[in-house]
Amino acid sequence: MTALLEVEDVTMEFGGLRALSEVTFAIDKGEIFGLIGPNGAGKTTLFNSITGVYPPTRGRIVFAGRPITGLRPDRIVQLGICRTFQQIRLFPFMTALENVMVGVDARHRTSVPGALLHLPRFKREEAEGEARALELLHYVGIGRFANELAANLSYGDQRRLEIARALGTGPSLLLLDEPAAGMNPAEKNALRDLIRKIRDSGITVLLIEHDMRVVMGLSDRVAVLDHGVLIAEGRPESVQRDPKVIQAYLGTGAAGDGEAATGEAG
Ligand SMILES: Nc1ncnc2c1ncn2[C@@H]1O[C@H](COP(=O)(O)OP(=O)(O)OP(=O)(O)O)[C@@H](O)[C@H]1O
Ligand SMILES: [Mg+2]
Repeated sequence: MTALLEVEDVTMEFGGLRALSEVTFAIDKGEIFGLIGPNGAGKTTLFNSITGVYPPTRGRIVFAGRPITGLRPDRIVQLGICRTFQQIRLFPFMTALENVMVGVDARHRTSVPGALLHLPRFKREEAEGEARALELLHYVGIGRFANELAANLSYGDQRRLEIARALGTGPSLLLLDEPAAGMNPAEKNALRDLIRKIRDSGITVLLIEHDMRVVMGLSDRVAVLDHGVLIAEGRPESVQRDPKVIQAYLGTGAAGDGEAATGEAG
């Protein structure tokens, strides 16, 4: 196995608050890697560090053998890492199709003068982008809503739309921040199938998820953050039995509960 993403001694401080403390782990190519931990453990902060939103205070992040620490978010997308957000971030008054085209455009963009002059190349790229976006909507199972405004989609379908938009950038690593939050059991099952399908297509997945059934059922390996410290890492079965992990979840109301708090407010 080759590591696709290496997180080395990453520390993130916000003023006096240490949100991540010397976090080290590596994700292999082709894995579904779960990241869990109580509310406020630093999971989203780790995504923000990997994607360049907040460069870490200390430490190093290496993607496909190349250091990416401190690169701009758009550059990191171009290199092949994309994400969805814990709080859905769609353009509510654009159609589903248009929302995905934004992701496709982030990757394939003709120069601004080319676009302004409507050069043939730009028109061709636009048509290709639209076809690709429609294909992605079908891929995530919401092709029939292509011309529906994003705001009119159900919550579960909006989460799928976010995934389609992220896939539009052509990632090799997809970061999902609580994709099952707010979904009903049927939607969660469909989401599991979708995430497996994405992995089987060759995309490596890093998954933050509070729903233990979803994350333990899907992940090849799981890492556990608690107060910014990586306290366990390994196969789901062994992580679930780890006394440190059980202790971290005690008192959060989430221990042994398959439907742990979704953390939507966090
Ligand atoms: N931009 C910021 N400025 C200051 N503090 C922040 C910032 N972002 C996150 N934090 C703090 O860092 C800690 C970790 O937050 P983070 O959102 O990463 O947790 P999380 O594990 O994703 O939690 P949840 O499960 O609730 O989503 C929290 O104490 C949070 O308040
Ligand atoms: Mg979070």
